[in-house]
Amino acid sequence: MEVVIRPNADAAADLVARMIAQEMRSHPRLVMGLATGNTMEAVYARLVQMHREEGLDFSGCRTFNLDEYVGLSSNHANSYRHYMNQHLFLQVNIDLQNTHLPDGMATDLPAECANYERLIAENGGIDLQLLGIGQNGHLGFNEPLSAFRSRTRVKILSPVTRAQNAPLFPRPDLIPHRAITMGVGSILDCRRCVLLATGEEKAVIVARAVEGPITSMISATALQLHPDCTLILDETAGSKLKESDYYHWVFENQPEWGPFRTAAPAAGKNGFQTRLPAVKKPVEAV
Ligand code: GLP
Repeated sequence: MEVVIRPNADAAADLVARMIAQEMRSHPRLVMGLATGNTMEAVYARLVQMHREEGLDFSGCRTFNLDEYVGLSSNHANSYRHYMNQHLFLQVNIDLQNTHLPDGMATDLPAECANYERLIAENGGIDLQLLGIGQNGHLGFNEPLSAFRSRTRVKILSPVTRAQNAPLFPRPDLIPHRAITMGVGSILDCRRCVLLATGEEKAVIVARAVEGPITSMISATALQLHPDCTLILDETAGSKLKESDYYHWVFENQPEWGPFRTAAPAAGKNGFQTRLPAVKKPVEAV
Protein backbone atom coordinates (compact mmCIF):
# COMPACT_ATOMS: atom_id res chain seq x y z
CA MET A 1 0.00 0.00 0.00
CA GLU A 2 1.11 3.55 -0.66
CA VAL A 3 -0.38 6.71 0.78
CA VAL A 4 -0.10 10.06 -0.98
CA ILE A 5 -1.23 13.19 0.83
CA ARG A 6 -1.94 16.26 -1.31
CA PRO A 7 -2.49 19.76 0.05
CA ASN A 8 -6.22 19.96 -0.68
CA ALA A 9 -9.17 18.05 -2.13
CA ASP A 10 -8.77 19.54 -5.62
CA ALA A 11 -5.13 18.51 -5.84
CA ALA A 12 -5.99 15.01 -4.58
CA ALA A 13 -8.76 14.56 -7.18
CA ASP A 14 -6.49 16.00 -9.87
CA LEU A 15 -3.80 13.44 -9.04
CA VAL A 16 -6.31 10.56 -9.22
CA ALA A 17 -7.60 11.80 -12.59
CA ARG A 18 -4.04 12.04 -13.92
CA MET A 19 -3.29 8.50 -12.72
CA ILE A 20 -6.40 7.22 -14.50
CA ALA A 21 -5.51 9.17 -17.66
CA GLN A 22 -2.01 7.71 -17.65
CA GLU A 23 -3.46 4.17 -17.45
CA MET A 24 -5.96 4.96 -20.23
CA ARG A 25 -3.24 6.26 -22.51
CA SER A 26 -1.05 3.18 -22.00
CA HIS A 27 -3.99 0.76 -22.19
CA PRO A 28 -6.69 2.05 -24.56
CA ARG A 29 -8.85 -1.04 -23.80
CA LEU A 30 -8.60 -0.44 -20.06
CA VAL A 31 -11.21 -2.12 -17.87
CA MET A 32 -12.03 0.38 -15.14
CA GLY A 33 -13.86 -0.18 -11.89
CA LEU A 34 -15.73 2.97 -10.94
CA ALA A 35 -17.14 4.41 -7.73
CA THR A 36 -19.80 6.97 -6.88
CA GLY A 37 -20.22 9.48 -4.05
CA ASN A 38 -19.47 13.17 -3.56
CA THR A 39 -15.72 12.59 -3.45
CA MET A 40 -15.63 11.18 -6.97
CA GLU A 41 -17.40 14.12 -8.59
CA ALA A 42 -14.18 16.15 -8.80
CA VAL A 43 -12.34 13.22 -10.41
CA TYR A 44 -15.00 12.79 -13.08
CA ALA A 45 -15.12 16.55 -13.71
CA ARG A 46 -11.35 16.52 -14.27
CA LEU A 47 -11.57 13.51 -16.62
CA VAL A 48 -14.31 15.26 -18.61
CA GLN A 49 -12.06 18.33 -18.81
CA MET A 50 -9.17 16.18 -20.07
CA HIS A 51 -11.47 14.62 -22.66
CA ARG A 52 -12.60 18.03 -23.92
CA GLU A 53 -9.29 19.84 -23.81
CA GLU A 54 -6.75 17.09 -24.51
CA GLY A 55 -8.81 14.52 -26.35
CA LEU A 56 -8.55 11.89 -23.59
CA ASP A 57 -10.11 8.96 -25.41
CA PHE A 58 -12.70 6.76 -23.69
CA SER A 59 -13.79 4.91 -26.84
CA GLY A 60 -12.01 1.66 -26.00
CA CYS A 61 -12.68 1.69 -22.24
CA ARG A 62 -14.96 -0.72 -20.48
CA THR A 63 -16.29 0.13 -17.04
CA PHE A 64 -17.84 -1.72 -14.12
CA ASN A 65 -19.28 0.18 -11.20
CA LEU A 66 -18.94 -1.10 -7.68
CA ASP A 67 -22.58 -1.02 -6.69
CA GLU A 68 -26.20 -0.04 -7.28
CA TYR A 69 -29.21 0.40 -5.02
CA VAL A 70 -31.82 -2.36 -5.07
CA GLY A 71 -35.19 -1.04 -6.24
CA LEU A 72 -34.01 2.07 -8.10
CA SER A 73 -34.37 2.05 -11.88
CA SER A 74 -31.58 3.36 -14.09
CA ASN A 75 -33.39 6.67 -14.70
CA HIS A 76 -34.13 7.29 -11.01
CA ALA A 77 -32.34 10.47 -9.91
CA ASN A 78 -30.70 8.65 -6.99
CA SER A 79 -29.56 5.58 -8.91
CA TYR A 80 -25.86 5.18 -9.45
CA ARG A 81 -26.50 4.63 -13.18
CA HIS A 82 -28.02 8.10 -13.29
CA TYR A 83 -25.05 9.51 -11.33
CA MET A 84 -22.54 7.93 -13.73
CA ASN A 85 -24.42 9.07 -16.83
CA GLN A 86 -24.55 12.64 -15.54
CA HIS A 87 -21.03 12.95 -14.18
CA LEU A 88 -19.09 10.97 -16.77
CA PHE A 89 -20.62 8.71 -19.38
CA LEU A 90 -22.73 11.26 -21.25
CA GLN A 91 -19.90 13.81 -21.17
CA VAL A 92 -17.19 11.71 -22.84
CA ASN A 93 -16.88 9.46 -25.89
CA ILE A 94 -17.49 6.17 -24.09
CA ASP A 95 -19.79 3.61 -25.69
CA LEU A 96 -22.66 3.24 -23.19
CA GLN A 97 -22.81 -0.46 -24.07
CA ASN A 98 -19.37 -0.79 -22.51
CA THR A 99 -20.51 0.74 -19.19
CA HIS A 100 -21.83 -1.69 -16.63
CA LEU A 101 -23.60 -1.37 -13.31
CA PRO A 102 -25.54 -4.07 -11.48
CA ASP A 103 -29.27 -3.94 -12.25
CA GLY A 104 -31.00 -2.97 -9.02
CA MET A 105 -34.39 -3.77 -10.57
CA ALA A 106 -33.52 -7.37 -11.48
CA THR A 107 -36.25 -9.82 -10.45
CA ASP A 108 -33.67 -12.52 -9.69
CA LEU A 109 -31.04 -10.65 -7.64
CA PRO A 110 -28.68 -13.60 -6.95
CA ALA A 111 -28.67 -14.38 -10.70
CA GLU A 112 -27.93 -10.71 -11.46
CA CYS A 113 -24.98 -10.78 -9.01
CA ALA A 114 -23.57 -13.98 -10.53
CA ASN A 115 -24.03 -12.52 -14.00
CA TYR A 116 -22.11 -9.36 -13.01
CA GLU A 117 -19.15 -11.42 -11.79
CA ARG A 118 -19.25 -13.46 -15.02
CA LEU A 119 -19.28 -10.29 -17.14
CA ILE A 120 -16.25 -8.90 -15.31
CA ALA A 121 -14.40 -12.17 -15.85
CA GLU A 122 -15.37 -12.27 -19.56
CA ASN A 123 -13.85 -8.81 -19.94
CA GLY A 124 -10.58 -10.05 -18.51
CA GLY A 125 -11.02 -8.66 -14.97
CA ILE A 126 -10.68 -5.09 -13.74
CA ASP A 127 -7.38 -3.34 -14.44
CA LEU A 128 -7.87 -0.23 -12.31
CA GLN A 129 -10.44 0.01 -9.52
CA LEU A 130 -11.35 3.46 -8.25
CA LEU A 131 -12.61 3.46 -4.66
CA GLY A 132 -14.09 5.83 -2.13
CA ILE A 133 -14.56 5.02 1.53
CA GLY A 134 -17.66 5.19 3.67
CA GLN A 135 -17.53 6.63 7.17
CA ASN A 136 -17.74 3.08 8.56
CA GLY A 137 -14.89 1.97 6.29
CA HIS A 138 -17.01 0.30 3.65
CA LEU A 139 -15.81 -0.16 0.07
CA GLY A 140 -18.71 -0.12 -2.36
CA PHE A 141 -21.46 -1.24 0.00
CA ASN A 142 -19.39 -3.84 1.83
CA GLU A 143 -20.72 -3.10 5.28
CA PRO A 144 -18.98 -4.18 8.52
CA LEU A 145 -18.30 -7.94 8.71
CA SER A 146 -18.29 -8.37 4.93
CA ALA A 147 -16.13 -11.42 4.26
CA PHE A 148 -12.80 -10.67 2.62
CA ARG A 149 -13.57 -13.44 0.10
CA SER A 150 -17.07 -12.11 -0.69
CA ARG A 151 -18.19 -11.68 -4.29
CA THR A 152 -20.92 -9.52 -5.84
CA ARG A 153 -24.06 -9.93 -3.77
CA VAL A 154 -26.93 -8.10 -2.09
CA LYS A 155 -26.06 -6.33 1.17
CA ILE A 156 -28.35 -4.63 3.63
CA LEU A 157 -27.25 -1.06 4.29
CA SER A 158 -26.17 -0.17 7.82
CA PRO A 159 -27.80 2.73 9.72
CA VAL A 160 -24.48 4.64 9.43
CA THR A 161 -24.47 4.28 5.65
CA ARG A 162 -28.14 5.21 5.30
CA ALA A 163 -27.54 8.31 7.44
CA GLN A 164 -24.44 9.23 5.41
CA ASN A 165 -26.33 8.99 2.11
CA ALA A 166 -29.58 10.54 3.42
CA PRO A 167 -28.84 14.11 2.25
CA LEU A 168 -29.00 12.89 -1.35
CA PHE A 169 -32.58 11.63 -0.98
CA PRO A 170 -35.69 13.83 -0.74
CA ARG A 171 -37.00 11.92 2.33
CA PRO A 172 -35.32 9.46 4.73
CA ASP A 173 -37.95 6.77 4.03
CA LEU A 174 -36.96 6.84 0.35
CA ILE A 175 -33.41 5.63 1.05
CA PRO A 176 -33.15 2.04 -0.16
CA HIS A 177 -32.43 -0.62 2.45
CA ARG A 178 -30.35 -2.84 0.18
CA ALA A 179 -27.79 -2.64 -2.59
CA ILE A 180 -25.96 -4.94 -4.96
CA THR A 181 -22.23 -4.54 -4.39
CA MET A 182 -19.06 -6.11 -5.68
CA GLY A 183 -17.58 -8.11 -2.81
CA VAL A 184 -14.35 -7.41 -0.95
CA GLY A 185 -12.93 -10.46 -2.72
CA SER A 186 -14.01 -9.06 -6.11
CA ILE A 187 -12.21 -5.79 -5.26
CA LEU A 188 -9.06 -7.58 -4.10
CA ASP A 189 -8.95 -9.35 -7.50
CA CYS A 190 -8.58 -6.02 -9.35
CA ARG A 191 -5.05 -5.48 -10.65
CA ARG A 192 -4.66 -2.01 -9.18
CA CYS A 193 -6.75 -0.16 -6.58
CA VAL A 194 -6.80 3.62 -6.12
CA LEU A 195 -8.79 4.97 -3.19
CA LEU A 196 -9.57 8.67 -2.86
CA ALA A 197 -10.65 10.16 0.46
CA THR A 198 -10.98 13.84 1.26
CA GLY A 199 -12.36 15.87 4.14
CA GLU A 200 -12.11 15.85 7.91
CA GLU A 201 -15.01 13.42 8.34
CA LYS A 202 -12.89 10.67 6.71
CA ALA A 203 -9.77 11.23 8.86
CA VAL A 204 -10.51 8.71 11.63
CA ILE A 205 -11.61 5.89 9.34
CA VAL A 206 -8.69 6.47 6.94
CA ALA A 207 -6.22 6.16 9.84
CA ARG A 208 -7.89 2.91 10.96
CA ALA A 209 -7.91 1.58 7.39
CA VAL A 210 -4.23 2.33 6.78
CA GLU A 211 -2.54 1.93 10.16
CA GLY A 212 -5.02 -0.18 12.11
CA PRO A 213 -5.32 -3.95 12.35
CA ILE A 214 -6.90 -5.85 9.47
CA THR A 215 -10.49 -6.65 10.35
CA SER A 216 -13.67 -7.46 8.45
CA MET A 217 -15.37 -4.85 10.68
CA ILE A 218 -13.63 -2.30 8.41
CA SER A 219 -13.69 -3.52 4.81
CA ALA A 220 -11.07 -0.98 3.72
CA THR A 221 -8.44 -2.68 5.92
CA ALA A 222 -8.54 -5.53 3.35
CA LEU A 223 -6.64 -3.19 1.02
CA GLN A 224 -3.55 -3.74 3.20
CA LEU A 225 -3.52 -7.21 1.58
CA HIS A 226 -3.65 -5.88 -1.98
CA PRO A 227 -0.34 -5.95 -3.90
CA ASP A 228 -0.94 -2.67 -5.77
CA CYS A 229 -3.05 -0.24 -3.81
CA THR A 230 -2.66 3.52 -3.47
CA LEU A 231 -4.60 5.83 -1.19
CA ILE A 232 -4.77 9.46 -2.30
CA LEU A 233 -5.79 11.83 0.48
CA ASP A 234 -6.04 15.52 1.13
CA GLU A 235 -4.38 16.98 4.24
CA THR A 236 -7.57 16.81 6.30
CA ALA A 237 -8.39 13.17 5.47
CA GLY A 238 -4.76 12.31 6.26
CA SER A 239 -4.63 14.35 9.45
CA LYS A 240 -4.95 11.40 11.87
CA LEU A 241 -2.22 9.29 10.29
CA LYS A 242 0.82 8.73 12.51
CA GLU A 243 3.33 8.06 9.73
CA SER A 244 2.51 10.87 7.32
CA ASP A 245 6.17 12.07 7.19
CA TYR A 246 7.10 8.65 5.83
CA TYR A 247 4.29 8.74 3.24
CA HIS A 248 5.43 12.19 2.06
CA TRP A 249 9.02 10.94 1.83
CA VAL A 250 7.97 7.97 -0.35
CA PHE A 251 5.98 10.21 -2.71
CA GLU A 252 8.89 12.60 -3.06
CA ASN A 253 11.48 9.88 -3.70
CA GLN A 254 9.77 6.97 -5.44
CA PRO A 255 10.74 7.28 -9.14
CA GLU A 256 7.28 6.17 -10.36
CA TRP A 257 5.76 9.28 -8.79
CA GLY A 258 8.11 11.57 -10.76
CA PRO A 259 5.59 12.61 -13.44
CA PHE A 260 2.99 13.31 -10.76
CA ARG A 261 5.13 15.33 -8.35
CA THR A 262 5.41 18.41 -10.49
CA ALA A 263 2.52 20.75 -11.16
CA ALA A 264 0.49 19.91 -14.24
CA PRO A 265 1.40 22.03 -17.29
CA ALA A 266 -0.45 25.33 -17.43
CA ALA A 267 -3.76 25.55 -19.27
CA GLY A 268 -3.20 26.75 -22.81
CA LYS A 269 -0.20 24.52 -23.51
CA ASN A 270 -2.13 21.29 -23.52
CA GLY A 271 -5.07 21.98 -21.31
CA PHE A 272 -3.81 21.20 -17.83
CA GLN A 273 -4.45 23.74 -15.13
CA THR A 274 -1.65 24.50 -12.72
CA ARG A 275 -3.06 23.58 -9.36
CA LEU A 276 -0.39 21.61 -7.59
CA PRO A 277 2.16 23.51 -5.48
CA ALA A 278 5.88 23.01 -5.99
CA VAL A 279 7.30 20.16 -3.95
CA LYS A 280 10.70 19.71 -2.33
CA LYS A 281 13.43 18.40 -4.61
CA PRO A 282 13.64 14.63 -4.16
CA VAL A 283 16.80 13.16 -2.63
CA GLU A 284 18.92 10.81 -4.73
CA ALA A 285 17.36 7.38 -5.00
CA VAL A 286 19.47 4.72 -3.32
C1 GLP B 1 -21.41 5.32 -1.01
C2 GLP B 1 -20.79 4.39 -2.05
C3 GLP B 1 -19.32 4.16 -1.77
C4 GLP B 1 -18.62 5.48 -1.56
C5 GLP B 1 -19.24 6.19 -0.38
C6 GLP B 1 -18.52 7.49 -0.02
O1 GLP B 1 -21.69 4.65 0.17
N1 GLP B 1 -21.45 3.13 -2.12
O2 GLP B 1 -18.74 3.47 -2.87
O3 GLP B 1 -17.26 5.25 -1.31
O4 GLP B 1 -20.59 6.44 -0.73
O5 GLP B 1 -19.23 8.57 -0.48
P1 GLP B 1 -18.76 10.08 -0.37
O6 GLP B 1 -17.70 10.26 -1.38
O7 GLP B 1 -20.00 10.86 -0.70
O8 GLP B 1 -18.27 10.29 1.02
